[in-house]
Amino acid sequence: MSETPLNIPPERLPRHVAIIMDGNGRWALARGLPRLAGHRAGTENLRRIIRAAVEFGIPYLTLYAFSTENWGRPAEEVQGLMRILEDVIDRELDELHREGVQLRHIGRLERLDPRLQQKVIQAVEKTRNNNRLILCVALNYGGRDEIVCAIQRIIRDGIPAEEVTAELVSQYLFTAGVPDPDLVIRTSGELRVSNFLIWQAAYAEWYVTPVYWPDFDKEEFRRALEAYAQRDRRFGGLSVTVSEIHAR
Ligand code: IPE
Ligand code: IPE
Ligand code: MG
Repeated sequence: MSETPLNIPPERLPRHVAIIMDGNGRWALARGLPRLAGHRAGTENLRRIIRAAVEFGIPYLTLYAFSTENWGRPAEEVQGLMRILEDVIDRELDELHREGVQLRHIGRLERLDPRLQQKVIQAVEKTRNNNRLILCVALNYGGRDEIVCAIQRIIRDGIPAEEVTAELVSQYLFTAGVPDPDLVIRTSGELRVSNFLIWQAAYAEWYVTPVYWPDFDKEEFRRALEAYAQRDRRFGGLSVTVSEIHAR
């Protein structure tokens, strides 16, 4: 099948895309498979979306892999997911490194299995000097937890109240140094935030597709980027064209 080229001027591309990779369970259910088979298929999909991001020239990609609320699932699913995440690091790390991907972790490592913690730390360390794509993996991540963690550290650092600004808070988040997401994609059709980047996505554009994550391919990704390129981002002001007209 021939591919449609990405026909978007660079200034209309998002600098940072964040994805809520949802629908693995329903993907499996629709095929009469166990939920973990859906998670496995979901991790298989990581490679092609990461590669597509590199190819499309997107410098920052954030992927929501496991939320602070996902601990509430049955132990069997949680344990299975952790195993799958370990496997995916083992399987993909060398190639990601070769492709110039820098891995960052957002969330708390503490509660994860010590072996998985070690793998995440090593992956971050190994890829720290890469810069072709900054890939943030949200693992044991919750937006509220992130803000609580930031407040605790601000207080511990003895920052005076009047010095607490939005910029300062941003620097205390797990995403310090990463620009806010321009585009948040959610697969599987759910119309909710689910505790993802609640601070950083204050002015992000949203794109929701009914496609389940394991089926979200490069073509679907391209469609999301094309939809984004058509958006008129106003940030509470007026669109450039309207304000220009009024300024005349
Ligand atoms: C997303 O798929 C992956 C994780 C949350 C870990 P789900 O497991 O939420 O799939 P659905 O929403 O049940 O279909
Ligand atoms: C969000 O999906 C978390 C991840 C994709 C990792 P969920 O499936 O956990 O979200 P809810 O429960 O439908 O809101
Ligand atoms: Mg879900």
